[in-house]
Amino acid sequence: MIVFLNGKFLPVEQAHVSVLDRGFIFGDGIYEVIPVYNGKLLRLAQHLDRLKKNLDAIRLNVSMSDGQWEEILNELVLCNAEKSDEEKGNEGAVSQGTVNLGNACVYLQVTRGVAPRDHSLPAEAKATVFAMCNPAVSAAPELSEKGMTAITLEDYRWKNCHIKSISLLPNVLLRQQAVDSGAAEAILIRENVVTEGAASNVFIVQDGTLITPPKGPFLLPGITRDLVLELASENNIACKEQAIKEYELRGADEIWLTSSMKDILPVTSLDGKQISKGKPGPLWHTLNGLLQSFKENNM
Ligand SMILES: Cc1ncc(COP(=O)(O)O)c(C=O)c1O
Repeated sequence: MIVFLNGKFLPVEQAHVSVLDRGFIFGDGIYEVIPVYNGKLLRLAQHLDRLKKNLDAIRLNVSMSDGQWEEILNELVLCNAEKSDEEKGNEGAVSQGTVNLGNACVYLQVTRGVAPRDHSLPAEAKATVFAMCNPAVSAAPELSEKGMTAITLEDYRWKNCHIKSISLLPNVLLRQQAVDSGAAEAILIRENVVTEGAASNVFIVQDGTLITPPKGPFLLPGITRDLVLELASENNIACKEQAIKEYELRGADEIWLTSSMKDILPVTSLDGKQISKGKPGPLWHTLNGLLQSFKENNM
């Protein structure tokens, strides 16, 4: 696997970061996960926009233009693309860890860089920029027949959840609590109101209307969330951004979770109770179809 680190493309084994990096010491950094479909970064402009907002939010100055980010990330995808049979013949066996150029996942992380350990921001530190590209893990085929299970948990995270911070310990522990109880995701509730999943945004369907919580400090403004809203509006499907009370979640006709690498996942069991008769609902089929066509056309 070839990764990008501070201006260089190099094999992952040769990519090293100082133990004094504030990302390592404080979790002081932000990240993006960008899907690649048909060899092209999906919704790159939106991901870069969120990246810049996050850098501003944590007061980290990185002087890179959108064009420069795009160049690096495209190069990274190409470096990791599986070679064609013809190229393989010319150059011998393809190295391990290459990804099919079609579908992949780019992870980009920017931390505040190396500085003596001190909570306050260093006067001088050069941001550490790291990116890697991994094969996309496709959703299990039975998902569209059976859906997935989720549990609800109290959202005890901080009040800056709109920042895509690399400090993910609460999300990690919440997700693990779900996994320990046999569920795939935790849906988080703060003062009787749904915020989001441990690593996803939440939608419900109520009387034919799609509802997702409004953006704000308690949830990440997901790129897939926005895309789903956009596709719904374009196709005259009623949708609104409105707070979802816990009882509305429990009584929803359908529940979905969205994220860049998992698309739209239908929840068919919540806290052990069946949702939408234990099968992905009709509106999920419609929106999932629209999203898959959108991705297919990502040329
Ligand atoms: C906490 C959280 N909310 C929402 C999302 C979905 O965001 P996106 O659609 O941009 O992947 C993620 C993605 O990992 C996440 O970690």
